[in-house]
Amino acid sequence: MKNSLLNFKEINDDRGSLASLEAFKNIPFEIKRVYYIYNTKANTSRGFHAHKDLKQVLICLNGSCDVVLDNRRRQITFHLNRPSQGLYVDKMIWHEMHNFTNDCILMVLASEHYDEQDYIRDYEEFLER
Ligand code: TYD
Repeated sequence: MKNSLLNFKEINDDRGSLASLEAFKNIPFEIKRVYYIYNTKANTSRGFHAHKDLKQVLICLNGSCDVVLDNRRRQITFHLNRPSQGLYVDKMIWHEMHNFTNDCILMVLASEHYDEQDYIRDYEEFLER
């Protein structure tokens, strides 16, 4: 899971900050879908699946959350708390999101349109593939 964390260039001036995301430049795929997770209830976790083909970049635009990535050999937890950082989640990586702050806005850039057939929601099945 090397290079999972992407650091986006921050353009700062006396008005504030700006970050820019571009397909095949600082995002390693063509972006076909964007979704975001917000208003997450207290003590709620999300994810608990892997994707057969989908690649994603998770960016915490506000607040913070923890993301666990599991590649069947090891698990790493990342704390996301800044809009200038993205977490690359390759295909066939089990991922879970925990410890959302109530102001957390987690934006996800995805390489494919939504397809329920692409999900692996059973951890044992994920381990056996
Ligand atoms: P799900 O992927 O299970 O959320 P999470 O992994 O964050 O727990 O999706 C929750 C619901 O939203 C599910 O009914 C599918 C739907 N959904 C879409 O319609 N489009 C999307 O792009 C996504 C990510 C989910």
